[in-house]
Amino acid sequence: MALIALTGASGRIATALRPRLRAAGHRLVLCDAPDAVGDALRDVDPATERVVEADLRDIDAHASAFAGADLVVHLGAHSDERPWDEILAVNIDGTRAVCEAARLAGVGRMLLASSVHAAGYVPVDSPRAREGMPLPAPDTYYGVSKAALEAIGGLYAGRFAMTVVSARIMTFDDRPGGPRSLQSWLSPDDMTRLVLAALTTGVPGHHVVWGVSRNTRRVVDLAPGLAIGFDPQDDAEAHASEVERRDPSRPPGVLGGSFADTAYVLGEPHGGTRPGP
Ligand SMILES: NC(=O)c1ccc[n+]([C@@H]2O[C@H](COP(=O)([O-])OP(=O)(O)OC[C@H]3O[C@@H](n4cnc5c(N)ncnc54)[C@H](O)[C@@H]3O)[C@@H](O)[C@H]2O)c1
Repeated sequence: MALIALTGASGRIATALRPRLRAAGHRLVLCDAPDAVGDALRDVDPATERVVEADLRDIDAHASAFAGADLVVHLGAHSDERPWDEILAVNIDGTRAVCEAARLAGVGRMLLASSVHAAGYVPVDSPRAREGMPLPAPDTYYGVSKAALEAIGGLYAGRFAMTVVSARIMTFDDRPGGPRSLQSWLSPDDMTRLVLAALTTGVPGHHVVWGVSRNTRRVVDLAPGLAIGFDPQDDAEAHASEVERRDPSRPPGVLGGSFADTAYVLGEPHGGTRPGP
């Protein structure tokens, strides 16, 4: 049984992880912003879960929350495009603060939630996507923040001998929602497998892996994840006929999909459609 601390604990991914990690026998520390805890953090099990209210940038609060943890899973973020100052404050300063708090608490392992948008301009049919891990090619300020998160993870792994997994999560959902998701879906059970791989891998250092299920139509390489023991099992193909009946369009040509489109205005949350400058 391990103690796993989660930031962004009232968010979508953490909400799906909590029952699965508890069922695997682990205890959890659930960290989120004071204004996010409350109704959003439901069904807390006092026997196995402890809630900590703190802004991501509060290093002292997180260092104390992380005491005794075997793994920190850093999910807290603006999970969409935002103005640059908000992205800088929460996603970049916040990630540095969480890593520093983990170091101060003596935690040796971290899983950092990066995103496909760190490499959103990589063409889906390019060898850079198919083999290994492409260099960052961010499609938004949000994507830049995830490339920075990977750099911060590399810094902490190198300087402080931590084991850090930066996972370029593609499309997390209960089930694939559209044609792009048939390539990019990450199921809740496979997300849980990713956390357990970060908890148990014996390979030290910094690893950038894809957070994606074993989808028949995937366009990225499972090998970096397999190297740390992340062996996804689910396949979006099981939902393909239902998805294609709803939306027969072809998936976009770059990994970042609509975020990488010039009609998607920098600094505006998803749905911003004014033409860019
Ligand atoms: N859901 C996806 O498909 C997907 C894909 C790629 C990457 N990711 C990344 O995975 C992580 C989790 O995604 P999600 O879908 O659960 O996101 P979410 O938006 O549902 O949850 C993010 C959480 O971060 C918290 N947070 C935001 N600002 C904070 C602050 N200043 N201090 C403390 N907490 C703060 C929010 O309260 C929220 O609970 C994010 O980092 C996101 O960028 C998600």
